[in-house]
Parts: sequence; structure tokens; C-alpha cells
Amino acid sequence: MKIIKVKSTAKKKRIATHTHIKGLGLEENGHARPLADGFVGQKSAREAGGLVAEMVRQKKMAGRAVLFAGPSGTGKTALALGISKELDHKVPFCAMVASEVYSSEVKKTEVLMENFRRAIGIRLKEKKEVYEGEVTELSPEETDSVPDIYGKSTCHVIIELKTVKGTKQLKLDPSIYDALIKEKVAVGDVICIEINSGEVKRLGRSDAFATEFDLEKEEYVRLPKGQVHKKKKIIEYVTLHDLDVENARPGGERDILSLIGQMMKPRKTEITDKLRQEVNKVINGYINEGVAELVPGVLFIDEVHMLDMECFSYLNRALESSLSPIVIFATNRGICNVRGTEMASPHGVPVDWLDRLVIIKTETYGLAEMIQILAIRAQVEGLKIDEESLAYLGEIGQRSSLRHAVQLLSPASIIAKMSGRDNICKADIEEVNSLYLDAKSSAKLLQKQKDRYIS
Ligand SMILES: Nc1ncnc2c1ncn2[C@@H]1O[C@H](COP(=O)(O)OP(=O)(O)O)[C@@H](O)[C@H]1O
Ligand SMILES: [Mg+2]
Repeated sequence: MKIIKVKSTAKKKRIATHTHIKGLGLEENGHARPLADGFVGQKSAREAGGLVAEMVRQKKMAGRAVLFAGPSGTGKTALALGISKELDHKVPFCAMVASEVYSSEVKKTEVLMENFRRAIGIRLKEKKEVYEGEVTELSPEETDSVPDIYGKSTCHVIIELKTVKGTKQLKLDPSIYDALIKEKVAVGDVICIEINSGEVKRLGRSDAFATEFDLEKEEYVRLPKGQVHKKKKIIEYVTLHDLDVENARPGGERDILSLIGQMMKPRKTEITDKLRQEVNKVINGYINEGVAELVPGVLFIDEVHMLDMECFSYLNRALESSLSPIVIFATNRGICNVRGTEMASPHGVPVDWLDRLVIIKTETYGLAEMIQILAIRAQVEGLKIDEESLAYLGEIGQRSSLRHAVQLLSPASIIAKMSGRDNICKADIEEVNSLYLDAKSSAKLLQKQKDRYIS
């Protein structure tokens, strides 16, 4: 069996409004600190979130679902993000918004399935043959026969590696020389070359070269024990979706053993149900052999009231399967119709579905908490603001919403700069507040001027 490095397909997302959230801010015993990890208040929801994270860690939560329910701007998305920060980075966390399923190009269930598989991790153990040691010699040999663009061409590279047990000279392919250059390998570094794939990893600088200065960035490592040529246990983390992408090939039959670890050139991939089943089969086989281990992660679906019956029944089935992550939903809806039906239900979630959910409520913030959150945001955005203005902004937040108040910070700082000041004062906030309407005042205005708008 060969497992070559699979490229990660994790979504890179920047949630700029939540950059201050670093975790859930809990104590060892699970109690929420008043202010920690960027989190203020919302104590019981944070503690409940901490329990969810702990159950994910203990793998007791797979196939279950949690719902964060509360008014807009009460920190539901922030809580989900906090849970993801509490987990080891090896536990996959995939976030999506329910409306993502309504794409004109892809089936709804397809979108859900893909995100499900992004949230299921696999830990693969494998023994690989490697050359490992400190580089004592590194010299490329050149030929003139087929010059490259620089007029030179490497035909092979001679490299000598040293371990505690001995040294070994290797004559390697030029492609490995490229990999050595990429990793910036020099004499005195400890490296590991994987024989099957030719992948080179620089482990650090040999501690024989360590200096007495502490200011260096360099990481020093011991001279490896054992022989230069050896078998080494390597552990890799991938998600089911990584494997799907890696193995997707438009059409054609495939050999099951070659499923994992095919280095493919990037191209438009088509992942079919059949392919997924094959990946599942192989993975289940590996799990039975003890080579692979399942790491159920977290799938976060925001605005869950946007899902329709088809999505819910699909989710129902997916959660029952043996390969399932924990699903966290969030919604700010009270009783409303399940999308696409005339059936009213709490949070827009079908009643039979509510039954399998654990519901965590989030509460609206009081003035003091709101001011604290605003102060954190100001600090994260690098803005200076005095107490009086913060208090005023807090009042605006109480009248409108936390999100509206947070959003006023940046324009207020621009106004302050335009008046040649570094710090935001109350007048700046009064000015932006008069320029921008919050949702509630806008609705009121519309009521008043009904006849002037088309409806
Ligand atoms: N308890 C809290 N502590 C710190 N920041 C918070 C807290 N609750 C919400 N926020 C911040 O307030 C803003 C709105 O919260 P958000 O999580 O988007 O609300 P929701 O998803 O419930 O509508 C975000 O910038 C969020 O990071
Ligand atoms: Mg949200």
C-alpha cells in the first residue's frame, strides 16, 4: 500500500468580524471566565459549547446535532468559531451557510455531501522507507549535454548523510536536487528523504552547529539515531473530501488499491457517488486493518432555516451513517415555515428533526457587556476610542444591534482621521450614526414614508 501526500482541500476563509475570538475562554473545570479568549458574557452558551468540544475530542458526538438559537448578533457564529478554536487543528472544522446549497450548477445534496466529507478526518499511519541524517556533503554533478535555460543541467546529485550509527553516500535524481533547493537545505541540516515519492523534508539544523545566541530563529535537532536508510512511522491527516478530490478522474474504471494517493495534476474534477463509495470502502478496510483511524470533525451550518425538506431528509440519512461528523446549526428565527412548505415549526426546523437536536440558547447582551465587546473590537482593529464614546456606542448598540454598533467603529475612525485626530471621540460617532441607518430605524422610516416607495 502506498500513501503519498494528499493535498489538503480545506477551505481558507477569513471571517474578519470574528478575528478577536481565540477560543471559548473556559477554565479547566469548564466554567466560563468573565472575559477571556476575546469572549465576553454569554456564559452558559459558552459552557455548553465547551462540553460539545469535549465530546468531539472524546469522539462521543459523531452523528449528533446541536442548534445555537438566539437573536441576531448574540454571538452564535462567534461561538461556533470558538468551538473550532478549542479543538486540535487536526480535527476538521468546516463552516458553511445553508443558502450555499442553492447553486444553479450543483445539486443541493451534492453541496451538503461535499461539506460533510470536508468535516470527516482520517488519521493514516504508515511505515515509509526513508533516508534520514545530517547532510555532510551536497554536490550536484553537471553535464553539458542537455543544457537548461541557465546553460547548465544537473544529471544527479551526490549527498552524504550522517547518523549516530554511520554515514552513507547517495547518488540521487536531479528532481530531488530541486526539492533540496526548495527546502533550502545546506550542509549541516538534518533532512529526511522519502524514498517512494522523493519528498524532502528539512527537520532542522544539526545541534552540533548550535550557537550560544538565543536570538536565532533556527530550530536545532539531534543527530538521528539508527541507520541512514530506515523505515519510519509517518502519520498523516486528511479529510474524506481530500481523498475524493485526489481520486476523482472523469470516467473510466479504477483499481481500488490505487485510490489513495494519486498525485494528479490540478484539473476539473468530478466526484461521483460511486467514487465516494469506493473511497469509503477502502477507508473502512484500512480502519479494520488498524492502519487508519476516523477523526470525526465538526460541520457548522449557519442560517439553518434556509434548508428545505429535501436537505433535512438528506441530513437525517447522512447523520445515521457510520462516517459522520457532529453538525452544529445556528439560526435567529423563531417560529416560521419550514422552507418550501406551509408547515410552521420552531426555528424553521421540521419537528421530527428538532427531536434529535440539543438546543443552546444565546441571550442578548446588556449595556456593560456590549461596551466590553466594542472595546475588544476597537483594540483588535487598532482604533483608539475614549470611554465616553464607547459608552455612547454601547447605547446605540442597545437601541439597534450589537452588529450595527461594531460596524460604526471603522467609519468613525475614518472621520476622526479626516479631522486630524488619532482617537475617536463622541462627535465622530454621532456623525456616523446620523449618516447610517440601522435596520430598525430604516424600517420605521419606511413605515412613515410608505407612499414614497414602490411596494
Ligand atoms: N460574547 C461575545 N464576546 C465577544 N464578541 C462577541 C460576542 N458575541 C458576539 N461577538 C461579536 O459580535 C459580532 C456579532 O456576533 P455574531 O457571532 O456574528 O452573531 P450571530 O451569529 O448570533 O448573529 C461579531 O463580530 C462577534 O464576533
Ligand atoms: Mg451569525
